[in-house]
Amino acid sequence: MKAAMSGQKISLIHRLSSSLNILRAYQTGTFGNAESEINFHKQLCEIIKTYVMVEVKEAKILDLGCGQTATQTVLFKADRADVIGIDMEVPTYKMNLKTFILVIRTNGVERAIKSLLRHLLFDKRFFSKLSLQYRKTLPFNQLDTRLMNATNLSFPDNYFDFVYSSWVFEHIDNVPAASKEVNRVLKPSGIAWIGVHLFPSLSGGHHLDWIWPYKYPSNKGPAWDHLLDNKYPVNTYLNRLCLDQYREIFHEYIDVFDEKFTYEGEKFLTPEIEKILQHKGYTREDLLIQTVIFLCRKKDKHIYERKR
Ligand SMILES: C[S@@+](CC[C@H](N)C(=O)[O-])C[C@H]1O[C@@H](n2cnc3c(N)ncnc32)[C@H](O)[C@@H]1O
Repeated sequence: MKAAMSGQKISLIHRLSSSLNILRAYQTGTFGNAESEINFHKQLCEIIKTYVMVEVKEAKILDLGCGQTATQTVLFKADRADVIGIDMEVPTYKMNLKTFILVIRTNGVERAIKSLLRHLLFDKRFFSKLSLQYRKTLPFNQLDTRLMNATNLSFPDNYFDFVYSSWVFEHIDNVPAASKEVNRVLKPSGIAWIGVHLFPSLSGGHHLDWIWPYKYPSNKGPAWDHLLDNKYPVNTYLNRLCLDQYREIFHEYIDVFDEKFTYEGEKFLTPEIEKILQHKGYTREDLLIQTVIFLCRKKDKHIYERKR
């Protein structure tokens, strides 16, 4: 199973520059920040208690697109939840020869070398900080993570109390299929938390030079380069969907009962850029909303309740 890349040819210079940016992000604590992961985890636990009304240790949880470090999966496991993480990329929290070979086979040599370096330089330190600050042993040995595509889940209907997916949907090529699957595996009493990094936002092109526009303003290219000339392409597949397109798809397949937004980039949106992008069909709202969190319940509960 190959992880999705952009399909666009990325020059060696751009790939090196991207690796340097990743390095800087780890060094500055923007990536691999134990404290913010734990704070965020506590918010997720509150959401489970409030909306699903079960204790986390009694919840059946799916971390959809858990990432190579499976950070939230392991924190839920440390809370004794029944959690499964799935991803198209091989998880590398237990980096050994077997994992390394599997990453080469699944995602290629370059990815395997990067994962190994990241594991040695940053992940190990990050995991020990996470464990120390969470005051719990991280049960990596008991973790259930599986290689699986979100568009074709191998779980029964009505299986999970909580489906959590953070910064994954923008990478999925078939969002209708994934939404349908999330709805199918969710219990009638369950909740899905789907956080999407929106493509038309300032950082939505996933170029690391624009990921932290306020903290580290970019000196490369104009803002919204990914919607203009795209001089600095990235090596990640992005489906390029806008907020309204997600809304339309979700409306069909799952019951969204709340949306929460974060905004970014107003000071970089010059009248010139806004005018050009409006001509390309992007609204001001498209350009300024960075992320949306969709809180969802199961649609057509009665159909699934009858089947049980
Ligand atoms: C930006 S990372 C987010 C990882 C993690 N959720 C987090 O918040 O740190 C996106 C992840 O989505 C995964 N992904 C992309 N498309 C997927 C798909 N169709 N099915 C499963 N995972 C997918 C990628 O392999 C990658 O690990």
